[in-house]
Parts: sequence; structure tokens; C-alpha cells
Amino acid sequence: MIFVTGGAGFIGSNFVLGWLAERDEPVINLDKLTYAGNRDNLAALESDSRHLFVQGDIGDTKLVDDLLRRHQPRVIVNFAAESHVDRSIHGPDAFIQTNIVGTFRLLEAVRAYWGGLPAAAKEAFRFVHVSTDEVYGSLEPQADAFTESHPYAPNSPYSASKAASDHLVRAYHHTYGLPVLTTNCSNNYGPYHFPEKLIPLMIVNALAGLPLPVYGDGRQVRDWLYVGDHCSAIRRVIEAGRPGETYNVGGWNEKPNIEIVQTVCALLDELRPRAGGTSYRELITYVKDRPGHDRRYAIDAGKIERELGWRPAETFESGIRKTILWYLENASWVARVQDGSYREWIATNYDARTASAP
Ligand code: NAD
Ligand code: DAU
Repeated sequence: MIFVTGGAGFIGSNFVLGWLAERDEPVINLDKLTYAGNRDNLAALESDSRHLFVQGDIGDTKLVDDLLRRHQPRVIVNFAAESHVDRSIHGPDAFIQTNIVGTFRLLEAVRAYWGGLPAAAKEAFRFVHVSTDEVYGSLEPQADAFTESHPYAPNSPYSASKAASDHLVRAYHHTYGLPVLTTNCSNNYGPYHFPEKLIPLMIVNALAGLPLPVYGDGRQVRDWLYVGDHCSAIRRVIEAGRPGETYNVGGWNEKPNIEIVQTVCALLDELRPRAGGTSYRELITYVKDRPGHDRRYAIDAGKIERELGWRPAETFESGIRKTILWYLENASWVARVQDGSYREWIATNYDARTASAP
């Protein structure tokens, strides 16, 4: 079986669902169920005996030791993390605890388990660490996209904590020979994306007739990849990646934020027109910028394409349409995640961001 951490979050749940749709190899899914973890995402697997869900922390060594010993996985995929940049600015503590200390404890438990495997299982074992393009910092407008050899220059507590975890993972290969692989992916979007992040926040706010808060001038550039394509890249890395290597994953899809928001509005105008015939664009509101806001990310995905033959299946146009249709068809999922703690976060992050000129 394989062992997934953070598999009740956005990307992890898409990965677990995709894995079990494609093959019969069971999954053990360890997730702490923070505000971002949601068992609703895995509802389709409720009576599926191939999925074993365990609520717990990657930093709980006793629990992880016990799970590894009992289930003997051949692969670990580490998605578990605190993932939202704005939250890391308001409260970095949890980011240090999970992304750095938690990854360290997980690595220690895995090292002990791996060290005791018989030779063939030891050789075949893989630890895949799911990381981000944000570790590379911000790019100038005309600079080449990030390759795997781009220097690390993280700018937020979130990206600094992910960079630290990447370094630990690398060191466990170099020092102990643990067969690790790291993926550094660009911005994902798709089903089960928690509506604190740009695309789902814009969809749910628009449908509720609320302002669409664009930070700063809205000209920051992100490189967007449909979540199903990120999952297929991770599957490919498990199958064919070379231990000790890192792989950048992206869709060659750079877009300024304001263009993303306008696209969401245009699709909603088509698929769920507003009463009164006005466009959702009227809800766009420029607000105070994110402190230390990275201006541009762009991923050069050439290595994973050349070496592992991976390619994204979705274009941005097909992926964003699918995503909006998913949110329109899953209003009850959205309603359930918008609980008290969600409303508190929205007040914390947005009440102080008064409307400003772009
Ligand atoms: P998410 O916030 O939606 O999900 C994180 C999951 O981890 C949640 O289910 C949460 O309950 C769980 N978790 C948190 N702390 C834990 C702990 N200590 N022990 C066990 N479980 C814990 O995040 P996501 O967007 O799905 O991102 C998953 C991974 O991919 C992260 O490592 C993130 O850095 C990376 N990543 C995300 C993106 C993106 O665009 N979302 C892009 C590149 C890389
Ligand atoms: O690049 C990969 C990263 O992408 C992942 O590692 C992170 O886990 C993931 O959260 C994401 O980080 P970003 O900061 O790029 O994503 P977010 O959706 O928070 O913001 C995308 C852009 O939109 C960013 O430039 C900030 C802007 N934004 C965001 C929000 C929430 C707004 O303008 N308004 C908003 O309300």
C-alpha cells in the first residue's frame, strides 16, 4: 500500500481519489484535520475498504511509527502542510510546527522504518515530498521561468517553512541515502479547493454577491495548473522519478491575477447570469496588498516532461470551466466549509484591507 499525509486537503484528496480510481493499491491516509482538512472531500470512499483514514499529526512519532510498522507501505507521499500564505503572515507558528518540525519528525520515523526493510523493499521504497514553486522567490517580469537549479529565496513565512522542509528532505537523501523525491509545483486550482485561496474565493464571493478582493494592482503573475494534472505528475514521479532528484511541475500558464478574476466573472456571467443582467465584474474591488507579495512565479516544467514524459491534460480554459461547473454543482460542499472558523478568518484577513485604487 501507499501512505499519504494530508490526504483530506485540497490536493491530497484529489490525489487519493485519483489513485483509487486508477488502481487497486490501498491507501492509508494520515491527516490532522485542521481547518483545511475535510472528510467530505473523501465521501466517495466511505465504504471503500482500500482507503484507511487516520486522524493524526505527521509530528506524532509514536503514531507514525506504529502505522508504518503495521501497514508496511512502499511509498510515502507527504502533502501535509499549512498552505496559505496570508495565514502564515498573520500567524507563522503553525507553519513552523507542521512544515518544518512535522516534516522532520516524519522523516525520522520513515528513516527508522526504511532502515529495517529487507534489501529489495528498501531499494524500491520512495518518499515523495510535495513542495511549491514559492521556495524560489519572486521573478522579474522578463526573467526565465524557475528551473530545478534556481536558487532558493523564499519570501513569506509559508515559503520559508516549505524551503526548510525541502532542505531537510534533501539532507536525508544525501546523509542517510533515504530514496526521496521532491516536486515543486506552481499554483493549483480545481475541485475541493478551500475558498480562502484566490480562485475558489472569487467563485464563492461572486455567487454570494460579495466584493471580489484583488490585492494591490492585481498584476502579480501566477502559473496555474489543474489539480488533476499535478496528481498525475506525482504518480509519474512515484513510478519513474530518480531518487534524490527534484522535479518542477507546472502548466506553462502564467496569468496576472486580474485576468484570472475577469475569467471567473466571464464564465459565471455565461453559466449563472446575475439577476438584473449586470456582470460579476462589477464586484471587483482593489484592496490593500499582501505584505511582501511576490510579483511573479513561473515554472519551467521541461525536466519532468523530458525525463518522465509527463504532460498536463488540461488547458487553462478547459480546467477553469470544469472548476466553475464543480463549484456550481457542489454548493452544499461550499456551505459546509463556510463554518464559524472560516468566517473568522475572512474577517481577520479582509476587514483591515480597505478598498484602494489599483
Ligand atoms: P491544504 O491546506 O488544502 O491541505 C493540507 C492538508 O494537510 C489538510 O488536510 C490538513 O488537515 C493537513 N495537515 C495540516 N497539518 C497537518 C499535520 N501536522 N499532520 C497531518 N496533516 C496535516 O493544502 P493543499 O493546497 O492541498 O497543499 C498540499 C501540499 O501541496 C502542501 O504541502 C503545499 O505546500 C503543496 N502545494 C500546494 C499548491 C497549491 O496551489 N495549493 C501548489 C504547490 C504545492
Ligand atoms: O505557487 C504555489 C502556491 O500557490 C502554493 O504553494 C500555496 O500553498 C498556494 O496557497 C498558492 O499560493 P498563492 O499565495 O499564490 O495563492 P493564493 O490563492 O493565496 O493567491 C494567488 C494570488 O492571488 C496571489 O498573488 C495573491 C492574490 N490574491 C489572493 C487572495 C486570497 C488576491 O488578489 N486576493 C485574494 O483575496
